[in-house]
Amino acid sequence: MKKPKIAVVGSSSMDLVVKANKRPQAGETVLGESFETVPGGKGANQAVAAARLGSEVYMIGCVGEDAYGTEILSNLKANGVITDYIEPVKGERSGTAHIILAEGDNSIVVVKGANDYVTSTYVKKAQSLIESCDLVMIQQEVPEDTVIETADICHKAGVPLLLNPAPARPIPPTTVEQVTYLTPNEHEAALMFKGEILSKVLTRYPGKLFITEGAAGVRYFDGHKEIRVPSFSVDVVDTTGAGDTFNAAFGTAAAEGKSIQESLRFANRAASLSVTGFGAQGGMPTRLEVESALKD
Ligand code: RIB
Repeated sequence: MKKPKIAVVGSSSMDLVVKANKRPQAGETVLGESFETVPGGKGANQAVAAARLGSEVYMIGCVGEDAYGTEILSNLKANGVITDYIEPVKGERSGTAHIILAEGDNSIVVVKGANDYVTSTYVKKAQSLIESCDLVMIQQEVPEDTVIETADICHKAGVPLLLNPAPARPIPPTTVEQVTYLTPNEHEAALMFKGEILSKVLTRYPGKLFITEGAAGVRYFDGHKEIRVPSFSVDVVDTTGAGDTFNAAFGTAAAEGKSIQESLRFANRAASLSVTGFGAQGGMPTRLEVESALKD
C-alpha cells in the first residue's frame, strides 16, 4: 500500500511535566513527585504519531532559537518526520506546555512562543506542498488566521483537511464547511456548540463531525443514525497525547482509503495504546503494534 503523504500544520513544543498526588488549588502549594521534560505540542505529536503509523509526514511549524528548539527538531527527525518546513524564529523561545499529572488526569497551560509565528503568510509558503498531500492536519495552538488560510488552500485544491479544534475557540462557519473532518473532544464540542444538544449537532455534520469521549469512544452521525465506536480498555499511565494519536491514526487510515468505521476503530486502538506510556509521545504505537493489538 502507498504511504499517505500528510502535512501537519501546527505547534511543536517542549512539555514540562510534574507528577503530583494532588492538583494544587488556587493559592495552595503541594509537593510534587517528579519532573521531566519531553517533546510535545499538538502538531508535533500528531506528526510523530502519523509517522510511526507509516505515513510520509511533513511538519509545517516554527521553533525557538533555544535548546528546546534543537531538541524538538531532532526528536521529529528521529521519528521520521520531514522537517524542511520548520523554521527557527530569531530571538523567540520555543513553545512550552506546563503539565500537571495528578489524580489520574492532566491539566495543561500552553505558552505559544514560536508557535505564534506559524501564521497564514507562513503557511502560504508551503502551499505547493499542501496541494500535493493526501491529507492535511491542523489544530488550534497556532493563530486563527492560519486555520482559516489552511482550510481555504485545502478546499480549493481538493485536499482533505482534518481540523482538531483543540484548544477550543470559535471557528468561522465557512471554515467549518471547508474542513473534511472535525474532531473535538466532548469538552471542546460543548464549548463550540454551547447550549445545543450534541446528538442534534451531529446530524448537521454527517461523516464530518466526530466527538471523542475518552474511554467512552467516539460518536458521529452517518447520515441515517448516530454511531458510537467504542474504545479499548487498558491500564492508563498518562492520557497526554491520546487525542493526538487518535487524530493521526484516523487521518492516516482515512487517507489510506479505509472506511470511516474502520478508521475509527484503528484510531481508538492506537489511542488506547498511547495512554500506556509516559509523556505525549512515549506510548504512541507503531503500525505493527496497532495491527497486532487489533488482532487480539
Ligand atoms: O495534546 C497534548 C499536548 O497538548 C501536549 O503534548 C502539550 O504540548 C499540549 O499542547
